[in-house]
Amino acid sequence: MRNRIEKLKKEKNAVILAHYYAPSEAQEIADYVGDSFYLAKVAKQSKADVIVFCGVAFMGESAKILCNDKKVLMPDLSADCAMAHMVKEGKIEEMRAKYSDLAVVCYINSTAELKCQSDVCVTSSNAVKIVKALPNKNIFFIPDRNLGRYVASQVPEKNIILNDGCCPIHAEVTAAQVLKVKEMHQNALVLCHPECEKEILELSDFSGSTAEIIDFAKESTASEFIICTEKGVGYKLETDNPQKKFYFPTPCPVCKDMKLNTLENILKVLENEENEVKVSENLRNGALLPLDRMLELGK
Ligand code: 13P
Ligand code: SF4
Repeated sequence: MRNRIEKLKKEKNAVILAHYYAPSEAQEIADYVGDSFYLAKVAKQSKADVIVFCGVAFMGESAKILCNDKKVLMPDLSADCAMAHMVKEGKIEEMRAKYSDLAVVCYINSTAELKCQSDVCVTSSNAVKIVKALPNKNIFFIPDRNLGRYVASQVPEKNIILNDGCCPIHAEVTAAQVLKVKEMHQNALVLCHPECEKEILELSDFSGSTAEIIDFAKESTASEFIICTEKGVGYKLETDNPQKKFYFPTPCPVCKDMKLNTLENILKVLENEENEVKVSENLRNGALLPLDRMLELGK
């Protein structure tokens, strides 16, 4: 399968992008592996004709919006992010009516429809920087209440209004689970994704995007880490640091949608060019501005 994928990639001038939560077989064969911000930048700058995006719907959709001239294929079109939909209808209008200077800051883990109603997009690696750079005092942060709360803690000069959405996978990690692992590995540093609940951030030694967690573990002099994010990052952590030990809370957080990016599905879409991501012109025009603004402010 690997040989056939490599051959088709050359024939079709295709590249494979994979998020760190994709299965290890997808990360292994991908041309680019990274966090959401990195992958959005790669898609925008790519010279390929075809992009196979091993991620979830909002990632493929964002890639298509950023480079409309390319064919964007998803190994499984049903791979979605539950949090991307978690803003109640009418909520954005309600907030805009309440605060005249409001900036709607939209985590990239969101539908194109939500991006269209927003002023700027962010990812977990650039949210603090971008919110700080905005001239607005009042910020409605959608959809993730946990990332929003983390940003609020780092930018106390702003009034950050939280929305009640969250990642169901990160939200299931409890302090008791983490402390249990810590009890067995007392020297291990706790690294968490800001999509985790407040109690996890409070007991962590470091909090950051998937790529930032990976960089931190590589640069750290510590040799043991408790990783509070999705299981997929374990592949890169272990490949980069064979001498270090990585533990996950039990049960290990797994995003089932990300796991739909199998080698079989990658081969199938490269062969048949099926599962093409389509975004209407209206949605594309509306969502491009906040995404481009993110790429500019997040530089
Ligand atoms: P990052 O890779 O940007 O940290 O995003 C995490 C995530 O949940 C992607 O769905
Ligand atoms: Fe969405 Fe959570 Fe899966 Fe990331 S891990 S894609 S935030 S459901």
